[in-house]
Amino acid sequence: MLVCWMLLAGCGDGNTSDDRQARVKPEKLPGQLTYQRFCFSCHASGAAGAPRMGDMAAWAPRIEKGEDALIESTIQGIPPGMPPRGMCMQCSDEELAATVRFMLNVSR
Ligand code: HEC
Repeated sequence: MLVCWMLLAGCGDGNTSDDRQARVKPEKLPGQLTYQRFCFSCHASGAAGAPRMGDMAAWAPRIEKGEDALIESTIQGIPPGMPPRGMCMQCSDEELAATVRFMLNVSR
């Protein structure tokens, strides 16, 4: 009986879909959540001339500058339209980088 139970437990271990999701999350979600909370207000509508999410024509010339340059200008801001750190003052550089990558993945 005990052996059976251990086999069953062993089968599920590390291999369930819950576990896979837990491993995907840190990559995918923080960027998306940060986008929804801080960047969405301008980048969904194109307010103040912001390149819109998914608008490939608007992003293409920016993507050419390279991801690092885009992360840098997100941290510094681009006066007057784009506020420093996209208004997410509590975001770390890493979180902002993940958010930029999330936006680029949707837009190219
Ligand atoms: C108050 C409005 C506003 C908010 C909020 C905002 N942006 Fe922007 N963003 C802009 C505008 C406007 C531009 C275009 C600036 C320009 O090129 O003159 C821009 C440009 C950018 C660019 C392109 C930079 C480049 O070098 O071409 C990136 C990347 C970006 N934003 C990321 C973000 C991220 C990430 C967030 C959230 C953390 C965010 N933005 C929040 C208005 C905003």
